[in-house]
Amino acid sequence: MTARHYHWWKHGVLYQIYPRSFADSSGDGTGDLRGLFSRLPYLADLGIDGLWLSPIFDSPMRDFGYDVRDYCAIHPLFGSLDDFDELVDRSHRLGIRIILDLVFNHTSDEHPWFIESRASKDSPRRDWYLWHGGRRLAGLPWRICRRPPNNWRAAFGGSAWTLDESSDEYYLHLFLESQPDLNWRNRDTERAMFEQARFWLDRGVDGFRLDVINYIVKDRQLRNNPYHLRWTFPRRHDQQLHRYDRNQPEAHEILRRFRALMDRYSETMLVGEVYPNEGRMEPEASASYLGNGSDELHLAFDFSLMETRFTGRAYRRTLERWYSAIPPDGWPTHVLSNHDKPRAMTRRCRGSLAKARVLAALLLTQRGTPFLYYGEEIGMRDGKLRRDSLRDPTGRKYWPFFTGRDRSRTPMQWNSGPNAGFCPPDVDPWLPLNTDYAGSGKAGGVNVEAGEADPDSLLNWYRRLIEVRRKRCELTHGSISFVGTHRKLLVYTRAHEERQVIVMLNFSGRERPAPPAGIPAASARILLSTHGDAPEARPEAPLRPYEARLVSAEGPANAEASARHGSGTR
Ligand code: GLC
Repeated sequence: MTARHYHWWKHGVLYQIYPRSFADSSGDGTGDLRGLFSRLPYLADLGIDGLWLSPIFDSPMRDFGYDVRDYCAIHPLFGSLDDFDELVDRSHRLGIRIILDLVFNHTSDEHPWFIESRASKDSPRRDWYLWHGGRRLAGLPWRICRRPPNNWRAAFGGSAWTLDESSDEYYLHLFLESQPDLNWRNRDTERAMFEQARFWLDRGVDGFRLDVINYIVKDRQLRNNPYHLRWTFPRRHDQQLHRYDRNQPEAHEILRRFRALMDRYSETMLVGEVYPNEGRMEPEASASYLGNGSDELHLAFDFSLMETRFTGRAYRRTLERWYSAIPPDGWPTHVLSNHDKPRAMTRRCRGSLAKARVLAALLLTQRGTPFLYYGEEIGMRDGKLRRDSLRDPTGRKYWPFFTGRDRSRTPMQWNSGPNAGFCPPDVDPWLPLNTDYAGSGKAGGVNVEAGEADPDSLLNWYRRLIEVRRKRCELTHGSISFVGTHRKLLVYTRAHEERQVIVMLNFSGRERPAPPAGIPAASARILLSTHGDAPEARPEAPLRPYEARLVSAEGPANAEASARHGSGTR
């Protein structure tokens, strides 16, 4: 495989950092850019090709940076523009790309655009946001019976419309009241936002993660969303089909224009966060934002993998549906955890390292770009937080029915010393650390230092998988074909030219015979296994409990394999 054929965003491994929680250098208990500098060698050793940083822009932090006050300034908590330039420079020297998190759908209510917009109905920027006088209940006086224009609910609770008393109209906010939605039908808004993106591209960033990108355009007539009967108490937002407040066709046109801008900068990438209209995940909705495969997003998140039950059959079903949805020239991406959801280690693996190894192998041997979430590689679990430590607005609002997103955002666990090496010993971290960082026993607690010291740790398993992935272009470039259907096993072949890697995953705590169809040639040998890679081990031996085994073979792919996804030539 030549460098020309290795595209960082397509064939590499990407890693999400929640900057508040990664490494604190200033000693205020919150992670920052200079803290991240010192950890770049760790990420380079792990084999990471790109970092997605959750927002670091200036913000009042009501939604921890997803409420932007100035898109072209770094929040002082994280450092300065000079620090950022240094981060780009240092990362690039280590072969690591930088992706920023751009929030297109809304700004903070403290953004100068909104301040100007709300100043009066005649403001030149009034139309940059979505304003409406509201509706009146039939026959009743306006003053007492004024209602928002429609039934849309905000994701973080309540109506999505708030009445601005001083200018006497409602404005739309699909999240917090302090996150007003921009009007993307106004081309001046679009131009201004693209200008903010260009500011970062000119500073050398390699791409953007686009926050809730399919929400940016709303129904022109502001029609009511249909009700959707579901038990989602107390979150009424999920009791609607979001037919009119997201996924409008104009969003694709905007993305095509943004892609054209991105394409003027070489080797840049866009990955979008897409949620379907219903609560259930629909990979087809995410895939539609890849356009024809080269004119909208480069990558789109599909969160179905996060919601899949821990069985081979369930994963196969999810993955095949996702692959089938991808346009012929599009490229899939895979993710198990992020800053909005419970960590897979807690949700799917229930703390079991054996299960986490199987999921790591699944993530890193699929066709498409894998995203890791900080700490996933050491087996970080969700923290147990008391009510008075909660910071996330959704957790504070809905406690105890829903405890919010803080639990998957606790500080990175670097070592077993005070504050896990995240911040100085005498400082309180912004969120309490998960106490498991300091554990005892052979492998010590859940932290990077303990992982590095133990050859059998999850961290070293991740490193080995990433190394094999980088060396074997079957895993980065090859097609994928699933073999056989077993409830507890998942077996697939990654083939490129005349070589294959066969991946066998045992999702159960019992030994299972390896499916004969999975082992094609006499040349087969074990490349890697969770249970050790003894040279004499036979590729076709029964799979041990929760074993993940990668077998290398020469010759054409097995005839019994099911539909092949991807040509294996990219
Ligand atoms: C996205 C972000 C989430 C944020 C929301 C509003 O879903 O991932 O963290 O709260 O958008 O910006």
